[in-house]
Amino acid sequence: MGIEIRKRSIDDGQELYEMLQEFPADENGLLNTMKDKSYSEYQEWLKKSVWESEQTELMNGWKVPSTGYWLFEDGIPVGFGSVRHFLTDALLQNGGHIGYGIRPSARSRGLGTKFLSLLLAESKKLGIGKALVTIQNHNIPSIRSALANGGKIEKITEVKHYIWFET
Ligand SMILES: CC(C)(COP(=O)(O)OP(=O)(O)OC[C@H]1O[C@@H](n2cnc3c(N)ncnc32)[C@H](O)[C@@H]1OP(=O)(O)O)[C@@H](O)C(=O)NCCC(=O)NCCS
Repeated sequence: MGIEIRKRSIDDGQELYEMLQEFPADENGLLNTMKDKSYSEYQEWLKKSVWESEQTELMNGWKVPSTGYWLFEDGIPVGFGSVRHFLTDALLQNGGHIGYGIRPSARSRGLGTKFLSLLLAESKKLGIGKALVTIQNHNIPSIRSALANGGKIEKITEVKHYIWFET
């Protein structure tokens, strides 16, 4: 079966909910809004996520459309991520196009690097020619994954690396 990326869907089930509970609510800026939420809240979140991925304009005047993804290894969920379809000025400074994580029990085996390459391919399908990932300076695995995928460092501030990709 190997490595596979799938879009978030309203049919996603228990094993994905359980994986999300393995992630903290905020890890290096990767937000997991489903941490400690109930299963029914997760189901509502799935519906909202799918709806948001179908939008083309800003929502409520500030939120950009984004598409959520899962990474599977041999049919077992190992990561979650998302791609914003376009950026506002605020997201150019803080957020970027792509956010992703590998579940703690599956890290340091190359899956993060692979997931980022698959998310870049999805970004291209969404019409994003140049994708930005912003990474906290202490997050060495994420910076290394970005560089392994051909990312170019635009700038390094006191807090973050700003890394761009040609999709
Ligand atoms: C960042 C993250 C996705 C990387 O996933 P991963 O599957 O562990 O990464 P990989 O195994 O592909 O390793 C990526 C690189 O980091 C290095 N690395 C992995 N674990 C490391 C560690 N604990 N310390 C230092 N380097 C590490 C690898 O050697 C590799 O570098 P290389 O290509 O130069 O050899 C994962 O650590 C994670 O989910 N972190 C929490 C969420 C997060 O920070 N997301 C990114 C937000 S921008």
